[in-house]
Amino acid sequence: MTPSERQPETRVTAEAGTRPGRLLDLRDVAVTYRSTAGDVPAVRGISLDLAEGEALGVAGESGSGKSTLAMAVLRLLPRTARVGGEILLDGEDVLTMTWGRLRAVRWASASVVFQGAQHALNPVRRVGAQIAEPLLVHGLATPAEARSRVAELLEQVGLPGWRARSYPHELSGGQRQRVMIAMALACSPRLIIADEPTTALDVMIQAQVLTLIRSLIADRGIGLIMISHDLSVLAATCDRLAVMYAGRVVETGPSREVFAGARHPYGRALAEAFPTVGDFASRLAPRGLGGDPPDPMRLPGGCSFHPRCPVALPSCSWREVGLWPAGRTPGDAPPPDTVPSPHTAACVHVLPDPEAVPDPVTRPGTGAGPEADPEAGGADAAPAARPAKESA
Ligand SMILES: Nc1ncnc2c1ncn2[C@@H]1O[C@H](COP(=O)(O)OP(=O)(O)OP(=O)(O)O)[C@@H](O)[C@H]1O
Ligand code: SF4
Ligand SMILES: [Mg+2]
Repeated sequence: MTPSERQPETRVTAEAGTRPGRLLDLRDVAVTYRSTAGDVPAVRGISLDLAEGEALGVAGESGSGKSTLAMAVLRLLPRTARVGGEILLDGEDVLTMTWGRLRAVRWASASVVFQGAQHALNPVRRVGAQIAEPLLVHGLATPAEARSRVAELLEQVGLPGWRARSYPHELSGGQRQRVMIAMALACSPRLIIADEPTTALDVMIQAQVLTLIRSLIADRGIGLIMISHDLSVLAATCDRLAVMYAGRVVETGPSREVFAGARHPYGRALAEAFPTVGDFASRLAPRGLGGDPPDPMRLPGGCSFHPRCPVALPSCSWREVGLWPAGRTPGDAPPPDTVPSPHTAACVHVLPDPEAVPDPVTRPGTGAGPEADPEAGGADAAPAARPAKESA
């Protein structure tokens, strides 16, 4: 078993993450791309959920698996991707839907604002026709009704109705992003996934688009998953945050708590990064954090973050912990089983005793101590402590 296939020793199970009224429920979702060079485990066992009218921000460096996770929700990944786990949309598993059912769900129940509006829009079709398409395909409007709905949608996103006749190249980056949002809203979906909706925009337009997204969510009670490398943007827009690293969620909780009091060292580095809009280097490595994100095909054993972690313990090179209640100081007793923890982090420093390692004798297949067996730990290791009660 490779390090990337091993499971953390303390995991948040789907049952542990149960919250009432969930619109979307991701259970242990894993995505592996097959490539000529080998398998690429881009998303590794993510459990997240989202309630109606709630906004969840997903943050992480370039390559952490954010877009892969987003595309998996509506089965928009290429054929080379193998998806595992469950993706429940209103309780129905997207992964087992027929193509007909999936077509009905896309746009009408859930829609995506794709990363890079410039490339997502068809350059040779007027934007009005592109916004109208899902309405016509789903039989939700006649051509005449679709035209007036398009004008209405454009006005809702702050563009004049006559812009329907424009081609994408006739619009600015911010205007194209607004067109993408209008498209996503066309069929009044209950869930919108916005993948880096403001990354390519300048600060002023970014603020306008974020204000627009916030007001649309509030007015319509839509569930939103917003993806960005910029934790500050997400914290200002979303109710909850999930921080991804190397295909896993390593910290999750209420936005303010995660942004102002991150407990995972990577979450802290992201929160302190304040990346510059348009500065590609700041996407690769948050300021103050050395090293590069790991190659998913060559993940380090133990905690994937350990080669870059400023507070790593010796056991971090072989031991991987799952999400754990983090909204309290280390050493405090964990909460009772019945109380969900809203803030969790996957780091030994939030365990009741960070230095305590699982008893090597209880780890099946090993007779040696942890340091003597760098491949041990993971799924086979005895839980060192009780897992958190809630996923993101
Ligand atoms: N079609 C593919 N085939 C093989 N590997 C892929 C494919 N698409 C993505 N990957 C790999 O999967 C990992 C996650 O990619 P993904 O695009 O999900 O990251 P991301 O967090 O969205 O990054 P960014 O912030 O740059 O958009 C990366 O290592 C990437 O190289
Ligand atoms: S588990 Fe260890 S290496 Fe990973 S973030 Fe925590 S201290 Fe750093
Ligand atoms: Mg991406």
